[in-house]
Amino acid sequence: MNRLSPSLLSADFARLAEEIAIIEHAGADLIHVDVMDGHFVPNITIGPKILKDLYNKTSISFDVHLMIEKPERYIESFVTDRTEFITVHAEACTHLHRVIQEIKSFGVKAGVAINPATPLDLLDYIFDDIGLVLIMSVNPGFGGQNFIPSALEKIRQVYDKKVERGLCFDIQVDGGITLKNAEMVLAAGANILVAGSAVFGAPDVYEETKKFIELMENSKI
Ligand code: DX5
Ligand code: ZN
Repeated sequence: MNRLSPSLLSADFARLAEEIAIIEHAGADLIHVDVMDGHFVPNITIGPKILKDLYNKTSISFDVHLMIEKPERYIESFVTDRTEFITVHAEACTHLHRVIQEIKSFGVKAGVAINPATPLDLLDYIFDDIGLVLIMSVNPGFGGQNFIPSALEKIRQVYDKKVERGLCFDIQVDGGITLKNAEMVLAAGANILVAGSAVFGAPDVYEETKKFIELMENSKI
């Protein structure tokens, strides 16, 4: 199933609840929460308190993307009964397998993200354990960057692996997703698209979200 996960990073942080209400009303499937620590990436964003406060403002599930070092320190603080995914970066975990088991121990689907320069084979021994692979199509840290084309081949390869092994993890793509390239990314095998600036930077956030959803519903792989 194709799903849209608008990234709050490009929303107006002073109006988060209102921005979420707009995408929820338009039918967004998930809320992508980008957590940055100023170490793993050169930016700082939001923490667990904001997620907990937003919990009562929406009924959409959370898709938490941790761009932080030693994410195992904070897994539990992002767990709610509507946290569907917690994704950690393979590059940020010394004991990735252990972190995945910890996420799963809370009944949350474990996601693993890889940066544009990170090879896919880092995931070879954990494919069976994860609920989501996140292919970064920009270097993490900021919204509004351009899609890096080599991500497409990575998406195809991870999709082939999934089929070959008969697994059912989701394939998410994050960075530079627009209405223009979404079709191509879905055709390569992705089924969850993260879009930040394309959604929240649009003049009409509601209409733009609807357009994404329509495109994704009409696109079959
Ligand atoms: C980047 C974040 C993304 C970001 C994407 O490090 O992980 O989720 O919000 O923003 P856009 O869609 O503007 O590239
Ligand atoms: Zn993200």
